[in-house]
Amino acid sequence: MEAEGTVLVGTYARTPVVLSSGKGCKLFDVEGREYLDMTSGIAVNALGHGDPDWVKAVMEQANTLTHVSNVFYSIPQVELAKRLVACSFADRVFFSNSGTEANEAAIKFARKFQRFSNPDNKRPPMEFISFTNSFHGRTMGAVALTSKEQYRSPFEPVMPGVTFLEYGNIQASRELIQSGKIAAVFVEPIQGEGGIHSATKEFLQSLRSACDDAGSLLVFDEVQCGLGRTGYLWAHEAYGVFPDIMTLAKPLAGGLPIGAVLVTERIAAAIKFGDHGSTFAGAPLVCNAAIAVLDKISKPSFLAAVSKKGQYFKEMLMQKLGGNSHVRELRGLGLIIGIELDVSASPFVDACRNSGLLILTAGKGNVVRLVPPLIISEQELACAAEILLKCLPVLDEGNSI
Ligand SMILES: Cc1ncc(COP(=O)(O)O)c(C=O)c1O
Repeated sequence: MEAEGTVLVGTYARTPVVLSSGKGCKLFDVEGREYLDMTSGIAVNALGHGDPDWVKAVMEQANTLTHVSNVFYSIPQVELAKRLVACSFADRVFFSNSGTEANEAAIKFARKFQRFSNPDNKRPPMEFISFTNSFHGRTMGAVALTSKEQYRSPFEPVMPGVTFLEYGNIQASRELIQSGKIAAVFVEPIQGEGGIHSATKEFLQSLRSACDDAGSLLVFDEVQCGLGRTGYLWAHEAYGVFPDIMTLAKPLAGGLPIGAVLVTERIAAAIKFGDHGSTFAGAPLVCNAAIAVLDKISKPSFLAAVSKKGQYFKEMLMQKLGGNSHVRELRGLGLIIGIELDVSASPFVDACRNSGLLILTAGKGNVVRLVPPLIISEQELACAAEILLKCLPVLDEGNSI
């Protein structure tokens, strides 16, 4: 820990734990302490740690071919894209290495699409709408779409042309989309970093119809809420509203870095050779790992189990925690659950960790975020709920928010 402070750029406020191994939903530190993992590496390790099918896919591919340039064809990339297309609204896929890069690609695709679709217009729609409490990434385009001011302002100028509207504000969204200036609307069907806020069906439906009327694109960022976390393969399936573009990342390769942009054919038609690319993206190793993940998660029985466990856990949390005076709201869908507090969640997070439970915060630091591996058992969820209950008294010492 001391060495970290001398050789790494200080971008992370780290928890004082050095993790060294993991199995299933358990993590172990270098001193051999065991933790129940309700973080999944921030919604990444959907299959937990060391899933045997994932390990096999990685080992076999590493022994065969790890990386080739996108100058060449490779089979795992095409196989993964075929699967993503088969199980989604999309016709084509672009691979990246992270969520922010997936959103960066979506920004470029939206602008190129608008130029391509409006060839005679000297000022085609080039602007974007994003929402309060949104998080889309850290690069100059994606951070421009991210609502938290302190992530953007030290680095300005970021990409211009982004208007932030209140998440859920149908009227304001409709009016701005109708202006004809909007290339695309970026929205998380369930906001993760922002504090586990779910969109309403009416909000997403109204974005869909306003975008259709104005020729704007609707982009769903499912980097955190997608790929089974809600109990639906795609969070937007819960709403029955479909995007033009969807961005994915976190859990797709089970812990290896990957991102993906899923698009419809009319958007793909606007993108030509050389418009975008990546050295590492879509390489055989990550894609073979992602095939193992997607094959498991997309099974209806797996998704049904996530829904069932999510409901079980939420009901148990309501029962055990709902009555505490510091708990303002319990929300979420499937295994993405937020507990909003009237105090900072940090002392609670520390107390849980000292009791062997790893959890995250979100929002303004007053939301406890629970995003366990999707393979977690009901028994492990019950154990997590017990520890959460046991640690509640520290909230009485907290600073109100
Ligand atoms: C919804 C959403 N979009 C984008 C990102 C950025 O992903 P990455 O950290 O892989 O760049 C995140 C990361 O938390 C996210 O939650």
